[in-house]
Amino acid sequence: MPNYFITTLGCQMNKNDSERIETMLRGMGMDLAETEESADVIVINTCSVRQTAEDRVYGFGRNFVELKKKNPGLIVCVTGCMPGRDKDSRLRSKLVGVDLYFPTKDMVYLPQWLSELNPDLRPMADLEKDYLSLKPTYQKKFQAFVTIQTGCNHFCTYCVVPFSRGLEVNRSLQTILTEVRDLAVGGCLEITLLGQIVNHYQAPDPEHFSLGNSYQKNDFAKLLWEINAILGIQRIHWTAPHPLYMNDELIDALTILPKQVNYLHLPVQSGNNEVLNRMNRRHTREFYLDIITKIKARKPNIAIGTDIIVGFSGETDEQFADTMSLFAACDFDISYHAKYSPRSGTVADKVFPDTVTMERKKERWWKLQVLMEETVLRKNQSYVGKTISVLIDDAKNGWCMGNSPEMKRVQCMGGEELVGTIQSVVIERAEEWILWGQRK
Ligand code: SAH
Ligand code: SF4
Ligand code: F3S
Repeated sequence: MPNYFITTLGCQMNKNDSERIETMLRGMGMDLAETEESADVIVINTCSVRQTAEDRVYGFGRNFVELKKKNPGLIVCVTGCMPGRDKDSRLRSKLVGVDLYFPTKDMVYLPQWLSELNPDLRPMADLEKDYLSLKPTYQKKFQAFVTIQTGCNHFCTYCVVPFSRGLEVNRSLQTILTEVRDLAVGGCLEITLLGQIVNHYQAPDPEHFSLGNSYQKNDFAKLLWEINAILGIQRIHWTAPHPLYMNDELIDALTILPKQVNYLHLPVQSGNNEVLNRMNRRHTREFYLDIITKIKARKPNIAIGTDIIVGFSGETDEQFADTMSLFAACDFDISYHAKYSPRSGTVADKVFPDTVTMERKKERWWKLQVLMEETVLRKNQSYVGKTISVLIDDAKNGWCMGNSPEMKRVQCMGGEELVGTIQSVVIERAEEWILWGQRK
């Protein structure tokens, strides 16, 4: 039986897209290969967010040429955000050994193209034309990603996503609710709603909201209330919201809904107003701090995470110091730091030269990293002695691990049989990235 191997780079949305690709490959009668070397079809689902992510794909190219010498029938497919933004095939021309190269939304044609290249692979009948309607091959029974929106209209000046994924498209409320209900019936406990600006979700079919929900105006908040009412689902998580759309209705949902995890990932990118302006984030430092203050007033123990770009065009030491002070004011539990990487086609690449040296970027990156590690260690100490609920998602050598509602990694003793269950764990020791405890 022919088999496939998928490598996914980039964000959770890409992971969810790969689950859809997997559904089609399985539907064609293929099995998962143990290694890339033993696969007949290789799919690389790419990310373009930074140059380093694209460079990894060029690196794979050399490997494909070698693999094809051993298996001449091998079909190599490259999809995701790289083909998505590569309108004039400039990136493709640097790739070797690739047979199929297509943006995410064209994945529905993959079965047809594969069967044309290898007649032993049978195409699938009646495939949906909209890739988001394909059912993902969920990697776990108890946890699932649910993409509710793709693309973005925001055009932050540094960002490639509106080019690679196109403008914002929202999935119908009805298909989202059906997917979550089906997941719940299948035993799913935790869902993660995905969108580039997830809290900008606008239902194309608002008539499917429950009547009891009709007094609210924010569709994303309404969606959270709907999902909260679905029996079986225990945890709702979402990423990534934009500060502009964190309005009061959504803050209510975040702080009131019992199934909402006790974590918010709210990208800020910079703590300096001039930099935020040049990034076209469309909000100020003060606006962001106000949201955090409001949320913490309602839920003091909520964990908050963010994304920060260091060394954006023209960022001075003083401007970076504002990012450090914003970090301290927000007391983030986690933050993902990226060194600014110019992306061709974006406004920043055209009008704001990449003036900050790599050395400076690295220096700033480390400063933030050190501050984050100090902060998170201090914050994690406060869990010692407390009992928290943990959704166990993995087990190895007598230890099992999972996330707390704050999305902190917890490890305790236990076996495979606990995977997919929620356990109460008393925390005994805290490190930066692991809370160690014992099951109650
Ligand atoms: N839609 C999400 C995130 C999209 S990209 C949002 O709006 O927050 C994920 C993260 O990659 C961003 O939050 C940003 O921190 C980082 N990023 C995006 N473009 C980048 C670039 N050109 N250079 C460095 N980091 C970048
Ligand atoms: Fe990119 Fe900005 Fe859209 Fe996020 S909101 S995907 S950073 S353009
Ligand atoms: Fe990368 Fe595309 Fe996600 S650029 S971060 S894979 S949306």
